[in-house]
Amino acid sequence: MISQPALTRLVVRNLAFLAAFALLGSTAVLAAGNADRGKQKFKATCEVCHFALRGATRNDELTKIGPNLYGVVGRAAGTHKGFRYSAAMKSSGITWTEAELRRYILAPQQVIPNVRMSFPGVGNAQDIDDLVAYLATRRHTGSPGTQSAAP
Ligand code: HEC
Repeated sequence: MISQPALTRLVVRNLAFLAAFALLGSTAVLAAGNADRGKQKFKATCEVCHFALRGATRNDELTKIGPNLYGVVGRAAGTHKGFRYSAAMKSSGITWTEAELRRYILAPQQVIPNVRMSFPGVGNAQDIDDLVAYLATRRHTGSPGTQSAAP
């Protein structure tokens, strides 16, 4: 029969193994942007000012404090109809590739000085990847990084 302390050691070791395994598992999942998590993050962080919705007949129906971000990946900055952008945004010359979105979400004011988006940026790299993965799903059909015509 196995002694009590030996049993405890065994259980502890297995638990440690399981914990390490769980950690590894989540790291693997965390390696790329996760659109589902990005959606939650968007709701919690961006949705107070932005929709990312398709479907209204006029763009301004979907405008909050910030422009509608539906289809933002591939779009030139400051060009969504029905939203009055700052001069800084309109003249930024940026096209919202996923890489540019990452830079911007990290530090909006540094990427576009005088931008009117009162938001300090997202500090966590994984959250940024998740957000961008989510935004990339908010688009008409087409391959990632491109913008197809609206059906
Ligand atoms: C406090 C309100 C507010 C919050 C919170 C906010 N934004 Fe904005 N966002 C704005 C405003 C206002 C603009 C337009 C800025 C301008 O014209 O200078 C903007 C512009 C943008 C643009 C440029 C869009 C375009 O059409 O060129 C992107 C991309 C963007 N926001 C992403 C985000 C993301 C992602 C989050 C969440 C992590 C977020 N924003 C959070 C208010 C906000």
